[in-house]
Amino acid sequence: MKALVLSGGSGTRMRPFTYSMPKQLMPIANRPVLEHVLENIRELGVSEVGVVVGDREPEIAAVLGDGSRLGLELTYIRQEQPLGLAHCVKIARDFLGEDDFVMYLGDNMLPTGVREIAEEFAARRPTAQVVVQRVADPRAFGVAEVAPDGRVTRLVEKPERPNSDLALTGVYFFTAAVHQAIDRITPSARGELEITDALQWLVSYGATVLAREYTGYWKDTGRVEDVLDCNRELLARVEGAVAGLVDADSDLTGAVVVEPGARVVRSRIVGPAIVGAGSRVVDSRVGPYTSIGRDCRLLDTAVEDSIVLDGASVSRVPALRGSLIGRSAAVTSADAGSAHNRLVVGDHTQVEVAA
Ligand code: DAU
Repeated sequence: MKALVLSGGSGTRMRPFTYSMPKQLMPIANRPVLEHVLENIRELGVSEVGVVVGDREPEIAAVLGDGSRLGLELTYIRQEQPLGLAHCVKIARDFLGEDDFVMYLGDNMLPTGVREIAEEFAARRPTAQVVVQRVADPRAFGVAEVAPDGRVTRLVEKPERPNSDLALTGVYFFTAAVHQAIDRITPSARGELEITDALQWLVSYGATVLAREYTGYWKDTGRVEDVLDCNRELLARVEGAVAGLVDADSDLTGAVVVEPGARVVRSRIVGPAIVGAGSRVVDSRVGPYTSIGRDCRLLDTAVEDSIVLDGASVSRVPALRGSLIGRSAAVTSADAGSAHNRLVVGDHTQVEVAA
């Protein structure tokens, strides 16, 4: 079996971060979403992975390289425009050949993995198998109607009035028969070749498409709230490990990771939390549920339930919570005695200032 990871698209819902970084590289517990995805794929025993990339290819390739660091063999497949998930399969035709493959959306996190579902697919070999989860509001997803025996009877992409609460997660298993379906479908109202339509085509022609319910944690990391939620979830699984320096006046409680080259001085870190390599935390309080990236500076600051990206600095800010601070951003309090806030705010940024 091969794997196809979709990592193109525009990521408008993750602005302003996606101006400088593709959303699939957003760090969750200090590792890019794509690395978590690729790790899940490696757990399936798959090593040949096609990565569909758009114009952010250079940044993605700079992080993932040829995949050898992750024990994988990566082939980058360039998609000139985000013309849909089924379009991605179409342009990966040469890479996929006649092999079965797992398609994994590069912004979806299923941290407990899909190994059992993959094994069932390999054993039963239906034409296709989708991974579904019950959700309260399925309108933002592809939705599957499923018979009691697990066969999919109908699929609709983002229906206004869903007939089922089973959402398609970002993981699909296919045999080569899907290529024939993709050759038959036409673009949807939003101008994309939808994988949901290709699956529906297979169902309509009597092919067996199975749905398997995944009950573990699942998140499409498309929005800032989702990224923070996912960060909390992954941090809750982290085991503490201190490789950097923590001075005697600091206090670490719970699962705290201090990466190599990081320094914690006169500070309190409440796990789960990670302080990234090369970062300095001085006279501050960090955590719980906080990831500090590499080479950050925190001075006289308190931050919880947040992600601070590489190279950012936060100084003299007494209470940050639920925040996502971009790469090399600087957040600081005004000079003593100043009655004003001074903000240099980029496009599509959100700032909440205490009244
Ligand atoms: O998150 C699960 C949902 O993902 C499913 O329930 C839907 O059925 C499925 O269509 C998809 O919906 P989204 O609207 O969330 O898909 P999005 O446009 O965010 O794209 C998913 C990933 O695929 C993302 O990493 C970007 C990449 N992509 C997307 C398109 C449209 C590409 O690489 N190329 C593309 O042309």
